[in-house]
Amino acid sequence: AQTVARDADGVVTVGGIAVTRLAEEYGTPAYVLDEADFRARARAWRTAFGADADVFYAGKAFLSRAVVRWLDEEGLNLDVCSGGELATALSAGLSAERIAFHGNNKSGEEIRRAVEAGVGRIVLDSFQEIARVAHLARELGRRQRVQIRVTVGVEAHTHEFIATAHEDQKFGIPLAGGQAAEAVRRALTLDGLELIGIHSHIGSQIFDMSGFEVAAHRVVGLLKDVRDEHGVELPEIDLGGGLGIAYTSDDDPREVHEIAKALTEIVTRECEAAGLRTPRISVEPGRAIVGPTAFTLYEVGTVKALDGLRTYVSVDGGMSDNIRTALYDAEYSVALASRVSDAEPMLARVVGKHCESGDIVVKDAFLPADLAPGDLLAVPATGAYCRSMASNYNHVLRPPVVAVRDGEARVIVRRETEEDLLRLDVG
Ligand code: LLP
Repeated sequence: AQTVARDADGVVTVGGIAVTRLAEEYGTPAYVLDEADFRARARAWRTAFGADADVFYAGKAFLSRAVVRWLDEEGLNLDVCSGGELATALSAGLSAERIAFHGNNKSGEEIRRAVEAGVGRIVLDSFQEIARVAHLARELGRRQRVQIRVTVGVEAHTHEFIATAHEDQKFGIPLAGGQAAEAVRRALTLDGLELIGIHSHIGSQIFDMSGFEVAAHRVVGLLKDVRDEHGVELPEIDLGGGLGIAYTSDDDPREVHEIAKALTEIVTRECEAAGLRTPRISVEPGRAIVGPTAFTLYEVGTVKALDGLRTYVSVDGGMSDNIRTALYDAEYSVALASRVSDAEPMLARVVGKHCESGDIVVKDAFLPADLAPGDLLAVPATGAYCRSMASNYNHVLRPPVVAVRDGEARVIVRRETEEDLLRLDVG
């Protein structure tokens, strides 16, 4: 999907650096992240939504201290969903009030740390949590700003959405049956809480805006009910993340300014129709910011042609650095990165080194028939949910994240070592 830049020798370059040099210096596999691209995308979201809205980068897509600093500098806020993400954000110096804390089962300890740190908002996900956060905040002598996450009955699937009467999943409090209205009632009466708005996240890798339209319509419906019942106009609405990116040339994502315009118009229109002041909008893009900014660089180890079937190309990573193909049947593209070749294309499957036949990185790809051990392959669009979902399966060491910018590279997350692995093994 991405157009790759190559130098005079036909070697793929990123941020002005040849991948052969990166492989030599940092080894493979490695995630190579283009810092300028990351910043440009972050800035584009910030600019598109403007001063009357907030953009919370969803840290689950990929989080490191460098990323937190870039976000901070580009004026974005951060969505975290665990104590670990919170710790990373705080240790990078992000001011707590720019953090939203998510999760359907935050521990008491996580809630305490979030309240103590003074996070800008906690997104409440259940009736128990409303009570827990209120209790802890009171104990700490705080009034915690919170949103309530609701499920609007829209289930988003890749490339489409299916409207369902009831959402059968673990997140949020259903609008259906008056449950969300009851949650608001409780949150408004508890003095440890300051209810600032309603949150909705309909899914991920979505291209169709109509799911957001239905969600906004229903959330605004709740805001109206709240106004009618309590005389309170909640000042904020969060529409979550979920905007899709191009993994292959089949995907055609929207420009961020179109997304911003569409979402803002939907909320404004719905609020006007309901006679409400337009609330401050926030969004939580993860994949759309970081996804396209990185590729994974692998070295080919073996090439095995199965007559009449396809050729299996084994690389030095696999499902431990990209679980998405195995888990979601996700599609990726791949390019020979260390040289150009005139050889005929062959039908290839790029697989990893794990002891499992489902260990596939790219299911179907055409690669030059002269592909050989030692060649470097680049798999684009691995910035989101690859390093963050990486594992140590088969005690394979998780790859580093190398950030490139203006002809310079630096490691922002280092490669795991066997010592790292053995440090935890204390038996
Ligand atoms: N906000 C909330 C409340 C979320 O749950 C998520 C993602 C986001 C924002 C960011 O969504 P994004 O803009 O990145 O689509 N591991 C899966 C994706 C799981 C997404 C979970 N929540 C994958 O690899 O596709």
